[in-house]
Amino acid sequence: MRWSRHPGERSLWLAFLIIFVMGVASSPLVTAGCPDRCECDDKLVVQCVGKQMTFFPSDFPLATRQLVISNNRIAELPALQLNFLSDLVFLDCSNNTLSEISESTFGNLRKLAYLDLSYNTLAKINDRTFGPLGSLVMLRITDNPELSQIHPGAFVENTALQLLDISRNNLTSLNITSLIVLPVLRTIALSGNPWQCDCDNEDLCLWIQIEAFKFQEGSESMCQGPPGVAGRQLAEVGMKLRMECHQSLGYWDYLFLTAVGFLIFSAGTVSAWVMGVLMLLYERYTKSKDTMQEGEEEGEGGGGGIANGNGHLSKPDV
Ligand SMILES: *[C@@H]1O[C@H](CO)[C@@H](O)[C@H](O)[C@H]1NC(C)=O
Ligand SMILES: *[C@@H]1O[C@H](CO)[C@@H](O)[C@H](O)[C@H]1NC(C)=O
Ligand SMILES: *[C@@H]1O[C@H](CO)[C@@H](O)[C@H](O)[C@H]1NC(C)=O
Repeated sequence: MRWSRHPGERSLWLAFLIIFVMGVASSPLVTAGCPDRCECDDKLVVQCVGKQMTFFPSDFPLATRQLVISNNRIAELPALQLNFLSDLVFLDCSNNTLSEISESTFGNLRKLAYLDLSYNTLAKINDRTFGPLGSLVMLRITDNPELSQIHPGAFVENTALQLLDISRNNLTSLNITSLIVLPVLRTIALSGNPWQCDCDNEDLCLWIQIEAFKFQEGSESMCQGPPGVAGRQLAEVGMKLRMECHQSLGYWDYLFLTAVGFLIFSAGTVSAWVMGVLMLLYERYTKSKDTMQEGEEEGEGGGGGIANGNGHLSKPDV
């Protein structure tokens, strides 16, 4: 063939070919239609609620802002299709059969502010699952009966997060490392999980106690175990765990107490000594004053009194 002999022309053809193939491959994703069985309105809201869909829909309006695919049986969120929706602000995937979410799932959704993954079958949330979602304000992951693990770094990059709802899952513990760095987190819901209030959860319990205002329904977050604290609120057992889980620091506590005791003792001793010295000085001072006065009185007799009288009498004359 002719073009194979000219490398420059050949790469141009190759580029055309690649663009053509990409165009064909992505056309069902970018056409400005409306997905099958869904309703699209002109405000760029796509609703596909309760349509017994088993696959993520395709053929979206280009600039879809809101997508609701709740009450279906969708098992997977395909990263490629989802990330074409780069203007997405609101995504409700609740009540499906999603069992896995990864970092690439939401790779390009930089405007996403609301995400609902409730009523699915997620088992764990990995490190940085929501990493790229820098605008995420509300995240709901409730009622995932198998969800028992949330990685300490799961939310670490979601610095806009204000509300996190992880109620009614299968969580026994939660490492607060990634939560305490979220600067604007205002509300967190934890109730309905089988929390184990042992030393692994000491930080969580203490945090709930200290930051009580962040926990709307703090009184509903109960310990399911161990037996000694079962049925009590997470917030109630924080201080108790703090004391129980740090018995190995007893040595330092004793040292501290000894140091404090010694300080109090020596302060008492010093102040008693200072007081004694002051009293002694005062006594001596008053004594010497008395003897001086006595001497004066003995030397001048009643003259001083008369002089004083004159001084006082002279005042009104001025
Ligand atoms: C989940 O969706 C199904 C239909 O697929 C519906 O019957 C059920 O009530 C929904 N559950 C919740 C909690 O919304
Ligand atoms: C919840 O987690 C426990 C282990 O912590 C496990 O034994 C149980 O099967 C889990 N429940 C569900 C519904 O997966
Ligand atoms: C929580 O996670 C951090 C970071 O991964 C780790 O250093 C820390 O030991 C964990 N805390 C608990 C109680 O597991």
